[in-house]
Amino acid sequence: MSVLVMAPTGRDSFLICDLLQKISIHSTPVQDFHAAWIRMPDAGALVLAEEALTPELVESFSRVLKEQPAWSDLPLILLTTSGEVTIQSLQRRTLRAPLGNVLLLERPIRPETLISTIKSALRARSRQYQLRDQLQQYRQAEEALRKAEKLAVAGRLAASVAHEINNPLEAVTNLLYLMRTTPHDPPMDEYLVLAEQELARVTEIAKQTLKFYREPSPHGPTNVAEVLESVLLLYRPRIAARNVTVQKELPPTASIPAGAGELRQLFSNLIGNALDSMRSGGQLRIRAREGLDPAGGQRAGIRISVADTGTGIPVELRAKVFEPFVTTKTDDTGTGLGLWVTSEIVQKHGGKIRVRSSVDQQHSGTTFSVFLPYQNTPAA
Ligand SMILES: Nc1ncnc2c1ncn2[C@@H]1O[C@H](COP(=O)(O)OP(=O)(O)OP(=O)(O)O)[C@@H](O)[C@H]1O
Ligand SMILES: [Mg+2]
Repeated sequence: MSVLVMAPTGRDSFLICDLLQKISIHSTPVQDFHAAWIRMPDAGALVLAEEALTPELVESFSRVLKEQPAWSDLPLILLTTSGEVTIQSLQRRTLRAPLGNVLLLERPIRPETLISTIKSALRARSRQYQLRDQLQQYRQAEEALRKAEKLAVAGRLAASVAHEINNPLEAVTNLLYLMRTTPHDPPMDEYLVLAEQELARVTEIAKQTLKFYREPSPHGPTNVAEVLESVLLLYRPRIAARNVTVQKELPPTASIPAGAGELRQLFSNLIGNALDSMRSGGQLRIRAREGLDPAGGQRAGIRISVADTGTGIPVELRAKVFEPFVTTKTDDTGTGLGLWVTSEIVQKHGGKIRVRSSVDQQHSGTTFSVFLPYQNTPAA
């Protein structure tokens, strides 16, 4: 916390700063409004010499003082010119009126008066900062609670759905088996095999969903480049239908300790979103290479980026995209769980995920960057 001193003429500024330094109060001389303004966020008080006040300065100060957050009321100490009532002093009084709550100190000022006034202003200010910190803590706690609630709901929902569909799945599996072993026309055979295959896939998804919440996943090793290739293959029809060109940079990389199913889910969420954002053509760039944790530290792993030239994510949405149930897809195609699941998978493997996006008409687009370490140890 520093005391800002604005006394542009004479030696006042120097004398006040010198005096404050002797009693270990930090102060900063400021020459103009701009210099004061950029230091205001952590200022303890503002000492102003009255002769520095011009109508423009009063207007600028009263504007920023009005814009202060609710907890803040920066103490202003105004050093007035003299005690006599003159035309000038009356004019100055009208001039400073918009500043509102100011402490007036009449010159010549005794050092003790100045010091005690500044000290009491600083005490008041530090209480305001305490209030600010408390408010911030409340807000963070509230936000954490809100997220935790959403996560718990999503987790429970997925697990209970997976659990509930297990029984009918088993029944249908048995029925299909019975049908296959009962006499029937030959073309039926083919349909039954297909039906069994599809059913096996659903069973696997239900099993994985339950496992995701209950057990650690099987730990690979899985080759990232191979998984990316297989996901791209899966999306080939949609890529062609949307007129999207694909640019790949997938040199052979080492494997990482993660299940192939989970990695497939991770990348298919990212690639699916990228394609959704490019309704009328665009470019999809997929890169994977070995590297260090981009957040610093010495952990080695694989860095993957999925970049599109789609619509981009507006800044207010960007902070929330990893939360469950956040979606802009109103046509019933989106559940808003895709990126949440993606980030859960990344975190589970000790990795990082980051998003950069631009909604600028000329070069809009989004890049998701994922880092997955070779060893699942927490970041330093
Ligand atoms: N590459 C992207 N480009 C533009 N917007 C994106 C991109 N990726 C995500 N978004 C935005 O983030 C939102 C949340 O994404 P998320 O994948 O979590 O859910 P979803 O795609 O809407 O639904 P689903 O659960 O079916 O995937 C999307 O609705 C979309 O608005
Ligand atoms: Mg999605």
